[in-house]
Amino acid sequence: MNTLKRIAAGILSTVFLFGMAACSSTTASETTISGDTTALSSASDAGNTAAFTTVEEGKLIMATNAFFPPYEFYEGDKVVGIDAEIAAAVAEKLGLELVIEDVEFDSIIAGVQGGKYDIGCAGMTVTESRLKSVNFSSTYATGIQSIIIPEGSEIKDIDTLLNGNYRVGVQSGTTGDIYMSSSVEDGGVGEDRVERFAKGNDAVIALTSGKIDAVVIDNEPAKAFVAANTGLTILDTPYAVEDYAMAINKENTALKDAIDAALKELTDDGTIPAIINKYIPAEG
Ligand code: ARG
Repeated sequence: MNTLKRIAAGILSTVFLFGMAACSSTTASETTISGDTTALSSASDAGNTAAFTTVEEGKLIMATNAFFPPYEFYEGDKVVGIDAEIAAAVAEKLGLELVIEDVEFDSIIAGVQGGKYDIGCAGMTVTESRLKSVNFSSTYATGIQSIIIPEGSEIKDIDTLLNGNYRVGVQSGTTGDIYMSSSVEDGGVGEDRVERFAKGNDAVIALTSGKIDAVVIDNEPAKAFVAANTGLTILDTPYAVEDYAMAINKENTALKDAIDAALKELTDDGTIPAIINKYIPAEG
């Protein structure tokens, strides 16, 4: 069976097992969790949930890594995109001013855990291992891991990529990194063949200059990078499906409840579907 299919199957079975409190992953070393990880608090309005605290009073400090279109990217010196707009709408519901900090992706979880940021909002996949460090809000979007290759590449499918001696570029600390860094038996290419970059786009630049053979990254950024560079294409193969959510400090359950209530209201009133549809037409 195709390896990413195996990963996807592993994710699905993990969801099942997770529900039965008997979680074990036999495929990728990192397991993603699909579906809401918590029940939405349906009772209260977001603004009226039990008092929550934030790192700085009156502010909602969001950590992201802003080179991940269409979720977060720069328009001039402003960070825009799906995550920026959803977080702004949530902040407004909560009566807070949104402050966006653009940091290294692999420092976001530690920063949320350490009380530096209120939320990590970065097209971030809910995974079991991240759930050991932070809470996640209810999920607000779906991602799929994609493989970018040069046009005319001899890599025609994921099995060729895994079993050949190809070098794969990833953004450091992402699920693409975690999948690819695991052994071939576990659906990756192994540490030795993985090249880590601070930004997804740096990996794409290395791909266009022939330094690496493929890039594994989430599908929407993959499409944006392929559109912005000539000579690249996305492998047409089954992918791993992931859920995106906001990371929140484990101790701040009041903030999580308030954010979940806000997300529910913003979904129900069509705000979030409209934001997603604005950046990804036809999928919102
Ligand atoms: N979904 C992937 C993950 O959580 C990649 C996210 C990368 N996000 C970013 N803003 N650079 O690992």
